[in-house]
Amino acid sequence: QVSNLDMDAAEKGGYEHFMLKEIHEQPNAVKTTITPRIVNGMPDLSECGLTLEALKNYRKLFIVACGTAMHAGMVGKYVIEKLARTEVTVDIASEFRYRDPIITPEDLVIVVSQSGETADTKAALHLAHDKGAKVLSVVNVKGSSIARESDMVLYTHAGPEISVASTKAFSVQMSVMYLLAFEMAYAKGHIDENECKRLTAKLAEIPDIIEKTMECEKKCKYVSSKLITAQSLLYIGRGLDYALSMEGSLKLKEISYIHSESYAAGELKHGTISLVEDGMPVIGVATQTELLEKTVSNIVEVKSRGAFTIAVCKEGTEFSEGVIDEAIEVPAMEDVLMPMLTVIPLQLIAYYTTVLKGLNVDKPRNLAKSVTVE
Ligand code: AGP
Repeated sequence: QVSNLDMDAAEKGGYEHFMLKEIHEQPNAVKTTITPRIVNGMPDLSECGLTLEALKNYRKLFIVACGTAMHAGMVGKYVIEKLARTEVTVDIASEFRYRDPIITPEDLVIVVSQSGETADTKAALHLAHDKGAKVLSVVNVKGSSIARESDMVLYTHAGPEISVASTKAFSVQMSVMYLLAFEMAYAKGHIDENECKRLTAKLAEIPDIIEKTMECEKKCKYVSSKLITAQSLLYIGRGLDYALSMEGSLKLKEISYIHSESYAAGELKHGTISLVEDGMPVIGVATQTELLEKTVSNIVEVKSRGAFTIAVCKEGTEFSEGVIDEAIEVPAMEDVLMPMLTVIPLQLIAYYTTVLKGLNVDKPRNLAKSVTVE
């Protein structure tokens, strides 16, 4: 007689919660998602109808999504603009619908959705069609309504994501953004075949490096023990680190019910820094080498106001004495690919803080896995 408990444990692959299982499934989820789209060392998204010719001719991209999926879009924006030199606008779907966006038939609207059923994102898809643009969707659930109504679909292959807090879906959504950025940059002639193959090979290494990044789990659990009594936290970063600070903040809020706010590190001095008081935890996401000095100076600013500073950084990053209270190191890769690794400690911190608070990790209050209402 297999008990429900045993059934439940089996379903969770021996992990205590689906969220932890799904965090640890990310290396495989990324590998399963990118491998079929790398042909002879080059990104190849033609399965969905995205030809090199089409990628070459798009004037502008709009990435529209909600929550974590929107944060994947933020990463997409930075990477596509940096490499493919093509303008990308990222919108929260519920805002996109009402700002009468200026979309032309030369533009591509990309909607990102794990469930493929999010009402706001589906409405954004309809608006894009009304304005004559083609829609590419990046979804994780086969045959979902957003997939069915799109002109092109790039499925992510993360497998079913049960935990309300999205983790592996975010990673695979980012991995598709990288493939799109590399192929578009090549199609537009901004990188040559060698550079495109080099970047693609680096992306292909990521699953193993995510596995290695899991070594920070113990440290994340320890840092979480310092956060459970916090009233509010700040997550700060610049560039890609800012996008990841948004994801880290959402993860913590939605499952631990501790308030936090993501803030562009360079913007703190324009007001928000007045919130910082003695002992307030501030998580500084500081992986972008070219921005490190400035981000560290922002961490020094909050430290001087009494913050409890936690840095998520590349292994080997050195900070002056007394600036960082706790550092969580991830393997060092080139800046552009760091989000794939940075997200791991941010997910683990949210997870362990919630577990230490004794809350329901997989089913946070008032939240649904797929928001099919507007
Ligand atoms: C993320 O952890 C949340 N569960 C939520 O923000 C989610 O990302 C958002 O509702 C979008 O869902 P979708 O990807 O299924 O469209």
